[in-house]
Amino acid sequence: MLRYLKGLGIRRFLSFCDLTCIEKEVCSVSLNKTFKLNFSNKTMASSKTMNFAPGPAKVPEEVLEQAHREFFNYNNSGISVVELTHRGVDYGKINDEAEAALRELYQIPPNYKVLFLQGGGTGQFAAVPLNLCSSSDDVVDYIVTGTWSSKAAQEAEKYCKVNRVVPKTSVYTGIPDQSEWKLSNNAKYVYYCANETIHGIEFDFVPETNGVPLVCDMSSNVLTRPIDVTKFGVIFAGAQKNAGIPGVTFVIVREDLGKGMPICPTVFDYKINAANKSLYNTPPTYSVYILGLVFKWVLSKGGVPAMDKHSAVKSSLVYEVLDASNGFYHSVIKKGNRSRMNIPFRIGGPSGNDELETKFLNEAKARKMISLKGHRSVGGIRISLFNAITLDEAKALVEFLKEFQANNQ
Ligand SMILES: Cc1ncc(COP(=O)(O)O)c(C=O)c1O
Repeated sequence: MLRYLKGLGIRRFLSFCDLTCIEKEVCSVSLNKTFKLNFSNKTMASSKTMNFAPGPAKVPEEVLEQAHREFFNYNNSGISVVELTHRGVDYGKINDEAEAALRELYQIPPNYKVLFLQGGGTGQFAAVPLNLCSSSDDVVDYIVTGTWSSKAAQEAEKYCKVNRVVPKTSVYTGIPDQSEWKLSNNAKYVYYCANETIHGIEFDFVPETNGVPLVCDMSSNVLTRPIDVTKFGVIFAGAQKNAGIPGVTFVIVREDLGKGMPICPTVFDYKINAANKSLYNTPPTYSVYILGLVFKWVLSKGGVPAMDKHSAVKSSLVYEVLDASNGFYHSVIKKGNRSRMNIPFRIGGPSGNDELETKFLNEAKARKMISLKGHRSVGGIRISLFNAITLDEAKALVEFLKEFQANNQ
């Protein structure tokens, strides 16, 4: 057997194991004491750990299974998907299919470009002013409703003049009424974050800018709410919450935007990346591959409208328990601005009871419910309900919330 395996070569040996594991429940291969390979499609699919993480977050099981199947031998190329050259036919297809699926999901018109870039959402905080402004005297409007839009505004300040549209605050509790917004009359663009992941504040409307290009960070609610792309100048989203794994940020940009400042780094230049179909330099190939699988998964589940309903149902279940808890679970976010994606709250009072919150996290972990700790800047608990979280998982968590209150109030 060993001689046979040696003859096959390690790569083909791994493919062989992969194939046999499709039929077998578990295939464990010990090559030597320090290098143990475990292939188990069943183990992966039936894992009971419920991952309520804010990102990197749960990836749909069907996507993980397909990625697992294709990992060692992509499309009969004889090599792994992570080894494909980005200049080859196979990767070209991955790139094109991901773009086509996103275009279908959002009905993106031809005058909008789709880019797959690196640098994360944070990279886009710089890329947006660098592409949309032409001078450091340009004025830009930022609707700051939480940490991420605040960070974006701070980054933009390096390149242009930032007008904060809503009053500064140290505690974010919602979106100030539009009558209080102070939009400037000469802004190059208006910027907002559709879902503040840390605070759990989500826009359920698209701000009116009267013709000024609208820029939106959709990192944490992309693919969960139907949108009319033509209302936007730029939409960007990191993949690692609703669309896959870290490494790629997708940008939808109206083609007339983005001449940019001469200092704009080439890797962030929208026009150059569009002209090169996101292949100006080596792209994050595996992240784009997973992105494409997730886009197709969303399409197979009924597209963005289906995810919208799915999100509304899951989050309502949680909010119902919080609202009926007589203050045991405490949220500061205004009802109309509550996020369907991220639900932060304190336990035992407005400032939280450390002991109860630690107990909650420990008991959740014992039930295989993980990544529920609130962001360090706000503390408490945060439940994240991205698209890959199933209704059953949300229901299991809701049952736990009820039980925990009954046992600890
Ligand atoms: C809404 C939002 N925007 C931007 C970012 C920053 O993304 P990255 O860490 O990929 O730079 C995050 C990160 O969680 C986020 O939630």
